Amino acid sequence: MKEVIVKILKKALKKKAVSLKDEEILNLIEVPPSQEMGDYAFPCFFLSKQLHDNPSRIAIELREKMGNAPATDLEDIQTQGPYINFFVNRKSLARQVIWDAITQKKNFGESKLGKGKRTMIEFPSPNTNKPLHLGHLRNMAIGESISRILEFNDEKVIRANMNNDRGIHICKSMLAYKKWGREKTPTDKKEKSDHFVGDFYVMFNKKKTKKLEAEAQEMLQKWEAGDKNTLLLWKLMNGWALDGFKETYKKFEIKHDVNYFESKIYKKGKEMILDGVKKGLFTQEKSGEVKIDLSNEKLGEKILLRKDGTSVYIVFDLALAKIKFEDYKLNKSFYVVGNEQDYHFKVLFSLLEKLGFKDKEMKHISYGLVNLPTGRMKSREGTVVDADDLIERVRLLAEKELSKRDKLSKTELKKRSLIIALASIKYLLLKVDINKNMLFNPKESVSFDGDTGPYILYSYARASSIMEKASLVQKKTEVNELEEKDIALVKKLSQFPEIVESAYKNLNPSLIANYSYQLAQIFNEFYHNCKVIGSEEEAFRLALVQSFRQVLKNSLSLIGIETLDKM
Ligand code: ARG
Repeated sequence: MKEVIVKILKKALKKKAVSLKDEEILNLIEVPPSQEMGDYAFPCFFLSKQLHDNPSRIAIELREKMGNAPATDLEDIQTQGPYINFFVNRKSLARQVIWDAITQKKNFGESKLGKGKRTMIEFPSPNTNKPLHLGHLRNMAIGESISRILEFNDEKVIRANMNNDRGIHICKSMLAYKKWGREKTPTDKKEKSDHFVGDFYVMFNKKKTKKLEAEAQEMLQKWEAGDKNTLLLWKLMNGWALDGFKETYKKFEIKHDVNYFESKIYKKGKEMILDGVKKGLFTQEKSGEVKIDLSNEKLGEKILLRKDGTSVYIVFDLALAKIKFEDYKLNKSFYVVGNEQDYHFKVLFSLLEKLGFKDKEMKHISYGLVNLPTGRMKSREGTVVDADDLIERVRLLAEKELSKRDKLSKTELKKRSLIIALASIKYLLLKVDINKNMLFNPKESVSFDGDTGPYILYSYARASSIMEKASLVQKKTEVNELEEKDIALVKKLSQFPEIVESAYKNLNPSLIANYSYQLAQIFNEFYHNCKVIGSEEEAFRLALVQSFRQVLKNSLSLIGIETLDKM
């Protein structure tokens, strides 16, 4: 509907010798605060300077240039002060959106904006010395949602995972295990294997002394030198960590197309640095240290190789970026990584440009930390909300709720409660703007009412139960009389394609999450006020409810949430 309005405005503006692009006009269109002011409004203030007139008169003149409103789409166009207000033909809007949703089904809302593009999205890229925590869940929720949003806009997405599987932090858990692990295995302790590894990392930090730190450093050197026993221990413990991650990914519904390992590529990064030294891009000191001065870009001085020749964290990333583009002929390469690494990625992209990476779109999708009421989560101190524990805790709560209502088989109970738990966690993590840090209060955060995932799922189940009761009726898009709550629902449904487009352009899942919640709210109001089965508009309203189900399902799917017909 907005396109029609853009067209009308563009034509009228042209007659006043104002040329604006469709996109620009679209961005100016507002939704007025009340129905009397129409469904859409175009403010004329900004034209005042150019046309040397006051905005109210400009509004009137533009309106005159428009002639009669095209009745199939618009009922009326009026001016009110500096605004031009558009009143859409509601019946035709209803007809259109219901037809589109019901015929296009799971494709309703998609676009071709990203056609022909190949994009790699990297997430969550853990270190292999400890299990995943709530921060990783936020990372994965964002990574998966952005992947789905890109796919819905016709991009080809490659989901990648970077395993930081070498380095001093890995050696710390290895050393602690060697000293105090008594050769026990996760099976002996009946513990999930990545948790088992993480316990030793915490243990190391609790018992940490200067001597212990030196020993870890020694171990790292042995590892780099290829010492057999060190490598054996490393393989064993890394295997445990990776096996554990696999289970968590599966539970959180994350599938990667490719896994990278720092241990396999960091040497290539070092070669790139030495190559850069030869080309005069980086300076090597007498001590052996290699660095680069980035103060021109306000990034200060960055050390790349230490005096002892070992490479710093950023070095493997140089090789990784190159490998990614080579392996997959990418147009774009995105990294979903927390905002503590903003500086890291600025330096990385700057170094890559110097090394000849031109015209390659790389982006750090930076997201805020998840903090606890007690402060920042710290893995090394063991003060984190563990990912597996959280999912299970929320699942048990959902199980308790479900058991109050229905008698379900054990498998059904487990299946439904997991879907509800994931909806609850994913929605909680995605409704917040990704740039913002968020506070997670374990006591308050898991609620099923109000602005939550389960509330949204519940509205879907309600709609499903209406449809189930109405098995035999035919659906139709025609309606005699539209009530206020019908209109509100129709309008919200019709916004979905615009929301998708905006989420795509801004890489912003929270737009979809918030839309889903608002849609569910509007449906609930409709549900409480409008009779569906047995009403005079039964066939139309069934079609409307069916459209709601479809749009909500599509919307939730973009934030990785599955629906349930019964709750
Ligand atoms: N493993 C790192 C961490 O846990 C994140 C890696 C991000 N990816 C990258 N290519 N640097 O902090």
